[in-house]
Amino acid sequence: MSAVTEVAANVTGKKVLITGGASGIGAASALLLASRGAKVIIADLSDEHGQQVVSQAEQAGNPILFKKVDVTSGDEVRALFAYAMQELGGLDVVVNNAGVDHLPKALHELSDDDFDRTININLKGVWHCMRAAIACMAPSGGGHVINLASVAGLRSSPGLSAYCASKHGVMGLTKTAALEYAKANIRFNAVCPSFIDTPMVRNTMETMDEASQKKLTHASPLRRLGTVEEVSAAIAWLASDESSFVNGHAFTLDGGMLA
Ligand SMILES: NC(=O)c1ccc[n+]([C@@H]2O[C@H](COP(=O)([O-])OP(=O)(O)OC[C@H]3O[C@@H](n4cnc5c(N)ncnc54)[C@H](O)[C@@H]3O)[C@@H](O)[C@H]2O)c1
Repeated sequence: MSAVTEVAANVTGKKVLITGGASGIGAASALLLASRGAKVIIADLSDEHGQQVVSQAEQAGNPILFKKVDVTSGDEVRALFAYAMQELGGLDVVVNNAGVDHLPKALHELSDDDFDRTININLKGVWHCMRAAIACMAPSGGGHVINLASVAGLRSSPGLSAYCASKHGVMGLTKTAALEYAKANIRFNAVCPSFIDTPMVRNTMETMDEASQKKLTHASPLRRLGTVEEVSAAIAWLASDESSFVNGHAFTLDGGMLA
């Protein structure tokens, strides 16, 4: 009988690009994947925070690279993927994680700027990166694209209509691409967290009164926010070959909210 050993999902040597990797879920995923032997590039709008995550990875003995990008620019995204291909010599996994929310407001009160910014970053930005990822992965035999959607991509989200629309859009892109590119051996999956303890959620909570904060924190049946460690562990498993038959899936991390 073979001995049972506990082994984390194997991502050793995987070439991984993570957008929005300077903060929250993206940063935690970059640090976890690098600690497990993946070769990681993070890309983000924030130079300062990107460099901080690079230093953290360096201090942990698992160096990663950073490149500044605005995912709303198709040209910047193309340049980012060219850089990643040059530095890593290929791409196995792309995590499209860069995203923003907007302050809770009724649909008719949202400004044009709020709506356009949310859709441009969360939806068009993901499409830019999916398009660039396909161009890199198709000629080299395949890969895996993991898009950060949300439970707001699976159900309504009162007060967050533009965010909710952007994340439903990400689900549409993910499921469509999963079918279009299966023959090229490129898989597409979405990760759908509920409220996770990150700067995005903390900043929104700061605008709320105590009762609303409590309601948000207790939105999950587990009556707490999720942690970036819980989400990055799921992303690390998806990034490994253990997820090889998972395609077009919405991987929900919500403490049971949608049950
Ligand atoms: N935190 C949650 O509760 C939660 C829940 C569900 C889904 N998500 C999704 O997970 C992803 C990460 O969220 P987070 O909570 O870690 O957020 P975060 O604010 O901590 O990090 C997001 C990162 O994206 C970067 N970014 C924003 N606009 C960009 C642009 N135009 N180009 C490049 N980078 C840009 C920011 O600079 C930031 O570093 C987002 O897509 C978010 O919608 C988060």
